Formats: sequence, C-alpha cells, structure tokens
Amino acid sequence: MKIIITENYEEMSARAFDIIKSVVTENPSALLGLATGSTPLGLYRNMIDDHKKNGTSYKKISTVNLDEYEGLDVTSDQSYVYFMRKNLFEGLDIDLKNTNIENGKAKDAEAECARYNELLHSRAQDIQVLGIGSNGHIAFNEPGTPFGSETHIVQLTESTIRDNSRLFKSIDEVPRRAFTMGLKNIMNAKKILILANGAGKAKAVYGMVRGAVTEEVPASILQLHPDCTVICDKDAAALLN
Ligand code: F6R
Repeated sequence: MKIIITENYEEMSARAFDIIKSVVTENPSALLGLATGSTPLGLYRNMIDDHKKNGTSYKKISTVNLDEYEGLDVTSDQSYVYFMRKNLFEGLDIDLKNTNIENGKAKDAEAECARYNELLHSRAQDIQVLGIGSNGHIAFNEPGTPFGSETHIVQLTESTIRDNSRLFKSIDEVPRRAFTMGLKNIMNAKKILILANGAGKAKAVYGMVRGAVTEEVPASILQLHPDCTVICDKDAAALLN
C-alpha cells in the first residue's frame, strides 16, 4: 500500500485527481470504477474543472459504480445513479450509455447481481476509486462480508444507516438494503485509490492500513492488492503514527 497523508481535504482531492488524470490521459478509453458519498466530491469537482479548462475528454471513458440502494432509481434524488449524474457525469462529456450501476429497481435482485457480475468479469476496472465507512466498509461490504464476495444484496448495518441518514430527510427514509459490488470484484481492479478525510475515519483507516487482514474490517483486504494508494488527510491519518 502506498500511503499519502495530506494537510486537508482539498489537497487530498487534488492528489486523487492527479492519479485519475494520468489514468485517463494514458488510456482515453479506460474503465473507471467510481464511488458515491461525500469523500470523492472534491475529486469529481477537479475532474469537471479540468474538463472545462483543459478539454480532457471522457467521450470514450466507461464507468462502473460500486453500489445502489434497493428500490431507488434515477427519479429519486437519493439514488446513487442520480448522485453520479449531478455530481460528475453532467459536468463531463461522458456518454451516459457507457456508465454502469446496479439497477436499484430490478424486479429480480439475483438476476441483477448476475448481470452486474457478468459486466465486471468482462473487463477489469483500470482504476477503482473508494471511500471508507467509519466501520471499515468499502462499497456496502459491511464487516463480516466474505473476501470472496461478488455483487450481492446487503442488509445495511445500523451504523451505516445512521451515517447515511444525513443525506435523507429522516432516518426512516434510508433504504435498509442495497446492491453492492463484492470485495472480489473490487480487488480485481488493476489499481485502487482509496480516499478518507476527517477524524471520524481515523479508526477505520488504522484498521485498513495497520490492522490484521480480517473480514471484520473489509478495507483491510486492500493490504493484499498489488497497486493500492491510500490518500487521507491528517485527521483521518491521526492514528497511523
Ligand atoms: C459509496 C460507498 C461507500 C462510501 C463510504 C464513505 O459508493 O460505497 O462505501 O464510500 O460509506 O462514505 P462518505 O464518503 O460519505 O464518508
């Protein structure tokens, strides 16, 4: 694991952007694995600014997202498909046909997981961007998820429901289940870039970087990836010294 500690969120986002930009420049048809949540918003703003100022093109870029709440689709402003359009895709020249995410409204959840796995098996992400949950989750792979897991439906834990309720009108509105890429699908990416900021992530970052590799801390599996970069601000890195 390569660990980069930054002064603040802005610097974390700028360093992350440099890595994404080099992937896109080297391969203008790259497959980017993307995440939602608060953490990558600064990275996404940098990608949009750079596209507008320097014309970096995403016309041939494809994307796969990590996860989606069950029961929500693009008509819901809480869905992850909506989040990606508003916070990234609408600011780029990307073709929405090349952007992929689980269909939260799929009638047959198992068939939807199989469809997404097939897509992921057909091509590895050139880079996978991740955030980390305060309980060490990556995507919606909660503590205890098998390292060999592929796309599946998860029951969200109370701590994740609480963390994510800040984005909903009330905690009752947070869906209790979600589709998520599995840990094996994430590990299949050629490169991994995981971002963390804020003191609330310090314990999870410690577990990911210094703790035992255990299914109790899903992000700890990243210690086994051959090309994983962790970029965190000094608050999230506070326990690493
Ligand atoms: C998002 C995702 C989650 C988040 C994590 C951190 O697609 O899969 O694992 O990355 O919950 O969320 P934030 O960035 O909001 O702290």
